[in-house]
Amino acid sequence: MKLTTLTKVATDSRLPLLLSLARSFVTPLYRAAFLTGALSSGVLQRLSGTGADAETLADALGITDDRRLLRAWLDVGVRLGELSVDTGTYRLKSRTAKALALPRNDAVAAALEEVVRFHLPVLLNGPAMLQHGHRLTMADQDGAIIARSSQVVQPFVEEAIERAVDPGAPLRLLEIGCGSGDYVRHAATLNPRLTALAVDYQAEVAQEAAANVAEWGLSDRVEVRHADVRELDLEPQFDLITMHNNIYYFPVEDRTKLLEQARSLLAPGGRLLLTTSCRGGNLSMEVLSLWFEYADFGGSLPEATELADQLRSAGFGEVEVRRLIPGEQFCAFVAGNSRERTA
Ligand SMILES: C[S@@+](CC[C@H](N)C(=O)[O-])C[C@H]1O[C@@H](n2cnc3c(N)ncnc32)[C@H](O)[C@@H]1O
Repeated sequence: MKLTTLTKVATDSRLPLLLSLARSFVTPLYRAAFLTGALSSGVLQRLSGTGADAETLADALGITDDRRLLRAWLDVGVRLGELSVDTGTYRLKSRTAKALALPRNDAVAAALEEVVRFHLPVLLNGPAMLQHGHRLTMADQDGAIIARSSQVVQPFVEEAIERAVDPGAPLRLLEIGCGSGDYVRHAATLNPRLTALAVDYQAEVAQEAAANVAEWGLSDRVEVRHADVRELDLEPQFDLITMHNNIYYFPVEDRTKLLEQARSLLAPGGRLLLTTSCRGGNLSMEVLSLWFEYADFGGSLPEATELADQLRSAGFGEVEVRRLIPGEQFCAFVAGNSRERTA
């Protein structure tokens, strides 16, 4: 290298900036994107254990064309430190890759996928969306990924359900936005005399929940319906209504009306159990909140005090708020239908 070039490079601040960006931002971003692609395509799961060569992997993934490109993609994974390769056999190398491939960590794998596929686009495109008058829609989400990632909070939601379900008496449950149906299953397991209606707005999610309910042998006690809760026209019959991880699917200004409608479906003395992340939690939850603000159907995560006020405005008599995860803003709201119905 000529001395003049060396002098130019040494005094040019762009090179150190670029190197620092690569280290602090670009490499972690590539790793997250690679792992997400490896998870959603099934590569990660297929490489766990003894690993596989590119040909075997391509066969398993149904890739017939351009197998060379699969190898090129795997080699970038090696360069990123997620995979290793030895005489043509690719294996998982990083601790993160190995952990994400384990079935028991599926909810965390789905949470990573949610961040990369749904959170990054709102950060990338927020101002441009505003410039062009665009909003996110329900179709910009993948209900199956969201249902899986929601399971991260499962033990805490289950504890809240255990507090709300009386195990002894017959109990009629309505679950709004049931996702996979896992929480209805938990309630039904706690109380063998519980019967439930579980509704979900997304057809494929409701279909999956119905299949799960059948597989769990609960079809005689749990009906799954593809429905928008706002259009449910039913008698007040439910002893318990549950809503987990979905209040932000409704615009802030519509929430009191939604809660009023939920209350109208409760039998006298019935209760609503609502669990949700609230504002002020970890950074992922703040970006999730931003996502729903940019959506044409939802709104920000609630402030805990704001949601408690909305419950009171909706006519609920006693409202109890409990933080479910120490240090986080994940809360359970239990509201009793003890007041006279107004309409
Ligand atoms: C984040 S997922 C949570 C699923 C499940 N409750 C859980 O915690 O695992 C939110 C669910 O609420 C459903 N949902 C949203 N708006 C709804 C509406 N208006 N009526 C019924 N379900 C709705 C969505 O389709 C989605 O499956």
